[in-house]
Amino acid sequence: MKKRLGILLSGHGSNFEAIADAIDTGRIHDAEIAVVISNRPGALGIQAALERGLDAVVVPSKGRKREEFDADVVKLLQEKTVDLVCLAGFMRLLSPVFIRAYPAQILNIHPALLPAFQGLEGQKQALDHGVKFTGCTVHFVDEELDHGPIVAQAVVEVSDDDTEESLSARLLEAEHRIYAEAINFVLDGKWRIQGRRVIATD
Ligand code: GRF
Repeated sequence: MKKRLGILLSGHGSNFEAIADAIDTGRIHDAEIAVVISNRPGALGIQAALERGLDAVVVPSKGRKREEFDADVVKLLQEKTVDLVCLAGFMRLLSPVFIRAYPAQILNIHPALLPAFQGLEGQKQALDHGVKFTGCTVHFVDEELDHGPIVAQAVVEVSDDDTEESLSARLLEAEHRIYAEAINFVLDGKWRIQGRRVIATD
């Protein structure tokens, strides 16, 4: 049976589109997108999901208590029998209610080589710090910000003439590649978590 993905986003949704393309081309195999959820009504990613004929739902978060919003999203994901939750530019912290409902079943993509440059604007943080290499990270989500066990990383070189825009664009290319690979790896199930390490068992 196909594994069912739930995508959570707040913005452009280019990572979501990369995941959908990877399913269409078989780079992520035996999977389907069960639902795309945005907490922001105007998110472009929701429009893109509807254009692809996917189930796309807005659950507004503005002005709501975190636990209440999370409980609604969890209920929706459960109704859609989602196996793996993929955060794709989802600009909210998840409460323990959410994380405990999907243990080791929530992935996030972060635009820096964690544990460096956690939080917002990982690209700007890297430029401001003057690093020569940065990158992106796919990790399991736990109760701390940008913290859970790391599934995949890719390194991106920073050039002297990089701006936040140019660096972000190169990072996104790497993000799209490793997020699909990481999802495929996690869905294959041939891994275990040892301490903080995600170890392939095959
Ligand atoms: C990406 O840089 C991702 O790493 C971060 O938010 C951004 C989302 O971009 N978590 P998009 O909406 O997928 O285009």
